[in-house]
Amino acid sequence: MPMDDAFLTADNVNYIFEDGPLHVLADVSLSIQAGAFVALAGPSGVGKSTLLRLLAGLLRPSSGQITIAGHPAYHTPEPIGLVFQKDNLMPWRTVAENARLPLELQGESGPEVKRRVQKILDLVGLTGFEQNYPAQLSGGMAQRVALARALIHAPNLLLLDEPFGALDALTRERMGQELLRIWQAMPVTVIMVTHSITEAVFLADEVMVMGGDPGNGRPAAITQRIPIQLPRPRQFEMQASAEFQKHAAAIRAAIQQ
Ligand SMILES: Nc1ncnc2c1ncn2[C@@H]1O[C@H](COP(=O)(O)OP(=O)(O)OP(=O)(O)O)[C@@H](O)[C@H]1O
Ligand SMILES: [Mg+2]
Repeated sequence: MPMDDAFLTADNVNYIFEDGPLHVLADVSLSIQAGAFVALAGPSGVGKSTLLRLLAGLLRPSSGQITIAGHPAYHTPEPIGLVFQKDNLMPWRTVAENARLPLELQGESGPEVKRRVQKILDLVGLTGFEQNYPAQLSGGMAQRVALARALIHAPNLLLLDEPFGALDALTRERMGQELLRIWQAMPVTVIMVTHSITEAVFLADEVMVMGGDPGNGRPAAITQRIPIQLPRPRQFEMQASAEFQKHAAAIRAAIQQ
């Protein structure tokens, strides 16, 4: 597809933590189409979270440029949803109060907010738990609240950093399917960091693998982009197929390079 169609682009992005200094990312270039579901994989410490923070505009590239819908990422008008590995919920706020926080910060209130909160909590499967406090939730439910909070302002871009990392295998599988359902119900582009190759193949249209110098692993760049040519909707049974295993093997090999 032509580059000018891309929703998100990175052009020769370098990132250096000045206190080291540590050159983490070198000449990262990528382009992602609107509505895509992209997984980001790579060894621990390679720079995945750093890249996600750059894409979110929380960090500024040391050199190079990141654009979202044509604007630099660090002052994009596009709404972005972020979910981190830890749910970061406020323990003194109920589920509904946590979910509506981004709207409050934008100065919105009233019956319309209440309606939107209910809609998003229904979408993530938390109907009936609106008045619960985080301490009264399971890990999977708390992550759903974090997802609801990220989705409440209808972001065009959803950035997920190991969102299901702390969950047990079964809950994790279920959350992955929920995420696919939500992604299909909303016009949103998703970039998700994951350590699970199976999860990456099951969810994504494409897996970007990050790697660096074979000696010390840095600085890192995107070393491979592996398209996942499996039909949708994705079914659990597909995981046993030769096609699925072939994709998983390709990603494993790319990470180990
Ligand atoms: N604020 C910081 N100051 C200095 N160095 C940092 C900072 N944050 C991260 N780093 C370093 O940058 C490198 C990349 O970190 P990053 O968190 O992006 O890795 P990652 O790929 O997300 O790893 P993991 O899979 O373990 O989450 C690491 O070596 C880390 O120590
Ligand atoms: Mg990380």
